[in-house]
This record gives sequence, C-alpha cells and structure tokens, in this order.
Amino acid sequence: MNSTSSPTSTSTASVAESERTWWKESVFYEIYPRSFYDSNDNGVGDLPGIVRKLDYLDDLGVDVVWLTPVYDSPQADFGYDIRDYRDILDEYGTMDDWERLRDGLHERDMRLVMDLVVNHTSDEHEWFEKSRREVDPYTDYYIWREGDPEAGSGDPYDPDALPNNWDSLFGGPAWTYDERRGEYYLHLFDGKQPDLNWRNPAVREDVYGIMRWWLDRDIDGFRMDVINFISKADGLPDGDPSAVVTGSEHFINGPHACEYLREMDERVLSEYDVVTVGEMPGISVEDAREYVGRDGPLDMAFHFEHMRLDEGPDDPWNFRDWSLDDFRETFTRWQTGLAGEGWNALYLNNHDQPRMVSRFGDEAYRVESATMLATFLHTLRGSPFVYQGEEIGMTNVPFESAGKFVDVETLRYVERMLERDDVENFEDIGDAVRYGSRDNARTPMQWSDAPNAGFTDREPWLTVNPNYTEVNVESARADPDSVWHYYRRLIDLRHDAPVLVYGDYEPLLPDHPEIYAYRRTLEDVGALVVLNFFDGEPRFDLPGSVAYDGAELLISNYEVERPEGPDGFDLRPYEARVYRLE
Ligand code: NOJ
Repeated sequence: MNSTSSPTSTSTASVAESERTWWKESVFYEIYPRSFYDSNDNGVGDLPGIVRKLDYLDDLGVDVVWLTPVYDSPQADFGYDIRDYRDILDEYGTMDDWERLRDGLHERDMRLVMDLVVNHTSDEHEWFEKSRREVDPYTDYYIWREGDPEAGSGDPYDPDALPNNWDSLFGGPAWTYDERRGEYYLHLFDGKQPDLNWRNPAVREDVYGIMRWWLDRDIDGFRMDVINFISKADGLPDGDPSAVVTGSEHFINGPHACEYLREMDERVLSEYDVVTVGEMPGISVEDAREYVGRDGPLDMAFHFEHMRLDEGPDDPWNFRDWSLDDFRETFTRWQTGLAGEGWNALYLNNHDQPRMVSRFGDEAYRVESATMLATFLHTLRGSPFVYQGEEIGMTNVPFESAGKFVDVETLRYVERMLERDDVENFEDIGDAVRYGSRDNARTPMQWSDAPNAGFTDREPWLTVNPNYTEVNVESARADPDSVWHYYRRLIDLRHDAPVLVYGDYEPLLPDHPEIYAYRRTLEDVGALVVLNFFDGEPRFDLPGSVAYDGAELLISNYEVERPEGPDGFDLRPYEARVYRLE
C-alpha cells in the first residue's frame, strides 16, 4: 500500500516574488498542551513534555507549531480564560520552559505561533477584578450594563431583567449579574470569560502591549481567538430570537472589527515578520476578503462553513449527514473566492471539533480515509493545519457516560438538555454528544500502547481513547504503510512541489456523487488530484480537458499498478491519487 514517487521539483521562479512568503509554504501543527505529553506525571501535559517531543515534530516535517493557550488561567475553558497574559500556567511549567520550547523549535527551523485571546479575559484577571470594583482606569475595560434585576419575576436572570436578549455561545444568557458592581457584564462565552470593551482605547493599547511583549520574545505569529467578535453593535440592540445564537448578528463582524485590526496591524504587526491567523466564526468569503484580502490587516482566517455542513440549521447539536456536493461547493467557493486575493487556512479538525476521520472519513477505513483527507488538505491552495493526533489517524472517543466529559460547552449543553421534558436521560442525547463534543479532540495524544497511551504514568486529566493499543505513534512509526508515514511523504511533497502551494485551483467533475477531483496549475506544470470520498469503487473518467499523457503519480494511499487506462481508472474505497501533469 501507499506509493510515492520522488517529486520532480518545479521551480518557484514562476511565482511572483511578492506572492511568496514562508507561511504560505508552511505546514502548521496545532498543539493542545494539556493533552500532548506529560513530563512530570501529574496527568496533565506540559511545556517540558512538548520539548521532549521536538524531534518527533521535526521528523514529521511540519514547519510551524501553533500552541493553544499556556498562560496563567483558572482553566474554566482550558486556557481560553486568561488570568495573566505574561505568565505561564504553573501546571504547564515556567517562562524558562517556554523559552526552551521556543529555542528548540527555532534550532530545528520550526516556528512558533502563540494564541492571542483578547475578545475576553478570565474573570480572575486583575483588570476585571478592578473593573467590578470600578477602580480607574479599569472601570470601562469590560461591557457593563445596568439592566433591571427587579424587573419581571425579580430574578436577575428573568429575560425582562437582562440588558438584552443575547445568548452566550455556550448556552444561556450572555449576561451575568455582578452583585458587587450592581450591574451585568457581557460574556459571549462562559460567565468566567467577560468580554473586553474594545471601544475603550486603553483596552486596545493594553492588548498591543501584550502583543509586543510576546513578539519581542521572538515568536513568529499569533492565532487570534474569535477575533471577529471584538466589536459589538452600537447600543447592543436585541437580536433576532430565531437565530441559532441570539444576538450574533450584532457581534459577528461588528462595526469596528476590521478598523481595530487595521489599527493593530499599523501599530504592532507591521513591525514584525510574523504570521497572523484569525479565528472567525460566521465569516463569508466576502468578509474574509476584508480581513485577509490584499489590503487586509491579517494573513489568514479560519472560517467555519465546512464545519457547519453536518449541523442542524436551528441547533448545531442536531447533527445530520453532510453531502459531498455541499462540501465541494464550500471548498470551491473559498478556493476561487480568495484566488489572487488572500490565502486559505486549511483544516478539517482542531481542538474544538470532532476528529476528522470520524466526521468526514470512516472509522471502518481509518487508514484509507485519514490519508485521503490528508491528501485533500495538503493539495489545496492554502496552508494546511494538522491537529495533534491527526497524523496517526486518531478518532472520536466512545465516552462511556456523561460523567466522562469535562468540556464546559459540552457540560452546559448536557445540563440544558436534561432540563427539558423530552429528554429523560443522557442516552437520549448521547449520540449527538459523543459525535460533536470538543472532548473528542482533547483526549491524550496516543504515543504508545503502554498504559494511558504513554501520555502519563498517572490518571490522565481526560480519558484516553481505548483504541490507543492499536492507534499510537510508536506502532505508526514502525509501519511504513501507516497514516504517519503518509503524512511525512505528503508534507515533503508539498515542500517540493510549488504547484501544490501556489497553483490555481480548478474543480473537475463538479457533480460527481463520490469523487472530488481538481486540477492545480502553475504556469506549465499541473497537478491532478483525485479523491474517492466514500467506501464505494467508482470509476474516475478523465475529463477531456485534462492532458493525462505522461502523467507521473506523485503520491497515492494505495499501491497503483501502471499503466492505467488512457481515459480514467477505477478507485478503491477512500483512494487518493495525485499526478503531476505535463
Ligand atoms: C475559540 C477557541 O478555539 C475555543 O476553544 C474557546 O472555547 C472559544 N474560542 C472561546 O475562547
């Protein structure tokens, strides 16, 4: 199984110098530190643990590590609730450990991207502690409103009492009443994550100060958490109650979001050679052009359109089947919509999403579908983001019971559902929770078949996927046909084939029910990508427009016998092939 020919490099001379940048040519790797590797056997991953695995990352061939938050935090949302932006969480190590990590990456020619979480802080951040006591200059650092706690039933959470009808993205009202200040504060996420008031220039100045502090410590960029939520509509008007998240039209891409990011670019980012990737739920391609187009303030945006394809229109937890038509249409819209304009951030899973094999692939064809999906991500125009464990084909987790989940979003959802009359017990919603919970992505990295997957010697903070005895790094590295070795080859291929990085994208067979095929073209070099997205054995009929004579197979996840027919070939379940076309 699995063949690769050594790719014939094409020169990058044909790519305009102004188009070329290191981050477009990079493969990114996301690390969720809590679950990566535990060096001191307390059940929690840590920075020294990552340092021990630097050679592993180097062997895999990735170029940039994105580290999700390691700052001091009460961990209500596992680090996306920051108490001190200039310190490391004790559980994860020290600033010295962080420096060792940064230096170890740089010594191996890898770069480090940090997570910038500045839509909100922790409620334990000093700014919030002072804001709730109205200590200047922090009084207006957050979004406080009076509301009317006595209105309605006298319960401060009676809808009539609240400043508006906005929902939190984790469910329930987006307002919490603070007894001390006698006002409500806005939190688009958990009550322990109050939103910062970006209208206040002092807040923006402080954020820029934090950014400079890290940039001056020689980091290589930021991934910016929900950065298109930072500006809220004037007057915080009520939202449309029929929206999935009430109020979202008033905080997604709010009136000043782009303006603040331009200011951030002018004041800070433009002084450094770094990459910026904005996490931007709810953006369309048109919005993305504003943020990451030619004159946009950021380099790349994570959009979520493909993450919504299997979510119910009214309730994201009401999962349904996704369709290849919608999937192809979505990716094609982004590929063509940003062509010549901006750059895609390509991902199929991350620490907030189910595992891609379980969602867009097939656990019964774990290796085949993991490698097919990887081929897809690494041959589109954009930069691929690999999430830890993806490179060994980690899957969703058969959580035994409600008690095994720890993620705040999941727990809130379960709580809310159990209050409903039509939900008797957890098993009534168990399938949806097991499919969609963020905990699927957060179980410990599976290093070996030793107890706890070789992640720790102690009880891990989150259950280990029982398939670790079969799915683990050690066995994957020992098997030349594994998902891991395929990733290595794919990453090498992308490094050596500029057509896969910079080439134009053109979909082929736009209506095929099982096959997603496209051509990439860079001057006189082409690449043909043929992917069977299902477990059938469809025939790929070569479109007349594709000159296939002399095509060279660059990579495939099955053994391919040559020669194939001149006008096409049969595919096996989840088969992926990439050809170089003359
Ligand atoms: C997006 C992050 O990826 C997610 O983990 C977090 O819960 C929310 N933003 C809030 O910070």
